Amino acid sequence: MERKIAVVTGASRGIGLAVARMLQEKDYVVYGLARSRGEAEGINWMTCDITDGRNVREVFSRITEEEKRIDLLVCNAGIGISGAAEFAPQEDYRRQMEVNFDGAVDCVQQAAPLMRKQKSGRIVFISSLAAIFPLPFQSFYSASKAALNAFSDALGIEMAPFGVQTCTMMLNDVKTDFTDNRKKTVQGDDIYGGRIASSVGKMEKSERSGMAPREVADTLGRLLDRRKLPPHKIVGASNEFLGLLFRLLPAGVMLRLLGKLYG
Ligand SMILES: NC(=O)c1ccc[n+]([C@@H]2O[C@H](COP(=O)([O-])OP(=O)(O)OC[C@H]3O[C@@H](n4cnc5c(N)ncnc54)[C@H](OP(=O)(O)O)[C@@H]3O)[C@@H](O)[C@H]2O)c1
Repeated sequence: MERKIAVVTGASRGIGLAVARMLQEKDYVVYGLARSRGEAEGINWMTCDITDGRNVREVFSRITEEEKRIDLLVCNAGIGISGAAEFAPQEDYRRQMEVNFDGAVDCVQQAAPLMRKQKSGRIVFISSLAAIFPLPFQSFYSASKAALNAFSDALGIEMAPFGVQTCTMMLNDVKTDFTDNRKKTVQGDDIYGGRIASSVGKMEKSERSGMAPREVADTLGRLLDRRKLPPHKIVGASNEFLGLLFRLLPAGVMLRLLGKLYG
């Protein structure tokens, strides 16, 4: 049987690297896209800044030339910013959306025509529980992930007749460099009574004791064994319980609870 072809963005470390390794173990031919190269043999590393449209087009046309098909695209590359919405520097919140949302869309637009023509393909977006539980002082991050969820769902309906499936995986805390790489703005913390630093500090503490990236990768591996991907997957049993609460609780109650925890 022919080996399946996978493209993983943000594969140089963290969750993307774990996903790339898991796919390798499942005998996929893996293309890893990032600005830097990850430490793993056997992955086809492609230098790619997903916010640079020309770079994205070049990389996908090389993959298409070499492989003639793409079976799986994992849109994983992402960054985080934090701070009070009113003080967020414009360049920071634009960059947040550019990497987490626009960059993913650009990659999808490169892979989708091929998947449509080959009448099969899977697109997985690495999202966050913040998409459905919007985090105070991480409003732009939450918005970027909510945008991904909506995009994935709509795209899935559009492309279903062509055999293309989409899925958003919503993660809670995962222990990676993401926490240290978060760009934090504490401007206004005095006005907000220290709530910015306190909320982001709490979030960082839980991220540092979060699940291993491999757990996310293994969950994705099990999803890929299914004939049909679920449109949404919350990773981790206790997090799935949070997903159930989201469906049951009125929005006002959920937001008050979030405010108590992180507000
Ligand atoms: N860690 C968590 O608690 C958590 C929770 C929920 C969701 N997530 C999501 O999981 C995904 C992966 O995060 P992680 O925790 O593995 O973080 P990470 O360790 O910081 O890895 C981020 C990856 O994204 C790549 N990346 C960043 N900007 C890029 C750009 N402009 N072009 C191409 N690649 C870029 C990085 O590679 P280069 O720097 O080499 O380009 C790196 O490979 C993100 O979408 C994040 O939002 C993480």
